Amino acid sequence: MADAVSLNAPRHVAIIMDGNGRWAAARGMPRAVGHREGTKAVRRTIEAAIEQNVEYLTLFAFSSENWARPQEEVTDLTGLLRHYLRNELNELHENGVRLLVIGERERFGPNLAHELAEAEAKTAGNTKLTLVMALSYGGRADIVEAARRAMAAGMKPEDLTEQTFAGLLATDGIPDPDLLIRTSGEERISNFLLWQTAYSELYFTDVLWPDFGAGDFAAALNEYARRERRFGARPE
Ligand code: FPP
Repeated sequence: MADAVSLNAPRHVAIIMDGNGRWAAARGMPRAVGHREGTKAVRRTIEAAIEQNVEYLTLFAFSSENWARPQEEVTDLTGLLRHYLRNELNELHENGVRLLVIGERERFGPNLAHELAEAEAKTAGNTKLTLVMALSYGGRADIVEAARRAMAAGMKPEDLTEQTFAGLLATDGIPDPDLLIRTSGEERISNFLLWQTAYSELYFTDVLWPDFGAGDFAAALNEYARRERRFGARPE
């Protein structure tokens, strides 16, 4: 029997994971420690998403702008990503998680880009949860790239609709996020899924990402369930 899914449960949850640096600073520790703790929150959140029957979970793990951070921090973050992939992939696979990567993965170098592609291929048949990792991702770059693809394909202006354009974005085939969560008290989109979050419910929490857990995820879903989504329309 299929799992019962409430009408008010989000199919797709996207998260801007913020506050690793402040979590570490509050403890007098280097930022790298905050990022490392952040990977534990990633693990807890994936488990919570599976538990709550969420179909798609998109995590903003590295933005296009993160390349501008000090080299040492960029190295720490890419190292954590590699480590995460090597250590968690088998478990993700066993738990039925399909991994998809959006963003400019080539910027991480051929080896890591290749490992990401292999992880996608290995988990391609899984159906429990689709985990979308946004890596070197920027919403504006995604839109510009889609426009380039349309031009390169010689699309006629009249063939370009919201639907055909959405199919040229990195998120082709992925439903738009129903709920966007941002941690750490910041209330911005920060060039995340600009096109895709047009009608997403936004949820901001003061919890710093390394402290985020199943209870916080459930609180966001409860809040979502209370909201009335109208997509710009007004009911009769
Ligand atoms: C924001 O904290 C978080 C990031 C820049 C990256 C998120 C990375 C992780 C959760 C760890 C790696 C992830 C995976 C999937 C292996 P911040 O540094 O901007 O925090 P601050 O605003 O408090 O300084």
